Amino acid sequence: MKTIASLAITALFALCLLACNGGGQGEPQQVRTVHPARQPLQVILIGGPGAGKGTQAAKIKEKYGIPHISTGEILREEVAKGTSLGMQVKEVMERGELVADSIVLALVENRLKQPDCQKGFILDGFPRTVAQAQGLEPILQKRGHPGLKVILLEVSDREMMQRLLARKRADDTEETIKNRIAKYHAETVEAIRYYEEKGLLSRIDGEQSIEDVFADIDADLEE
Ligand code: AP5
Repeated sequence: MKTIASLAITALFALCLLACNGGGQGEPQQVRTVHPARQPLQVILIGGPGAGKGTQAAKIKEKYGIPHISTGEILREEVAKGTSLGMQVKEVMERGELVADSIVLALVENRLKQPDCQKGFILDGFPRTVAQAQGLEPILQKRGHPGLKVILLEVSDREMMQRLLARKRADDTEETIKNRIAKYHAETVEAIRYYEEKGLLSRIDGEQSIEDVFADIDADLEE
């Protein structure tokens, strides 16, 4: 009698467990620790030449584990490898002009298809024109995640010039820097306005120390 009673209790206990686990169709439900609206983190860093986009993108990448996509870097690699695209854009870059929107949009669309971008990305130096900003929208729609954080690093022309002359990259000659700054005011400021009107833009003082700039960006991303 004692054995039958203990068997009945065991069976009852097993039935209870099955019911609690959703009829035995797998593991108990996990508690979601990440708010779905925070995933993926899609960041645009915008600012003039030498504003600190690359420096800050590296820090965001380190903290949030999302890839840093610099259109300038991708284009410089093409030039260094001597590809037909590289040969096409070399002189444009040397003059500090902007590469055609269609070329840059195709590069970005391709890069965002890579699996490492599924959890988010940091775009550094793109978009630089309203056409690029508008072209990015269907690309993000296709990914199913249109949400963006756009961070503007505000730095004076004088400070940008000083930083770049001190750095000495191939396109950091005084004449080229002047052209890059002029392009920033002529084209990129319009893209900044575009994002501001959409309520997506955060302005950060880029003339603080590198650590303080990052602290401001980080606070903005955590919001
Ligand atoms: P790109 O490579 O994007 O150049 P850029 O916009 O001119 O920017 P930089 O890389 O020079 O500066 P940054 O803002 O990243 O600053 P960084 O962190 O390096 O583009 C190059 C070219 O490619 C363009 O001219 C164009 O031809 C073409 N191109 C690229 N994208 C394009 C697009 N979307 N459309 C069309 N054409 C495109 O910092 C600079 C220096 O300052 C460093 O030495 C750094 O250590 C220092 N620094 C950084 N932060 C601070 C700080 N807070 N205090 C003091 N120093 C600092």
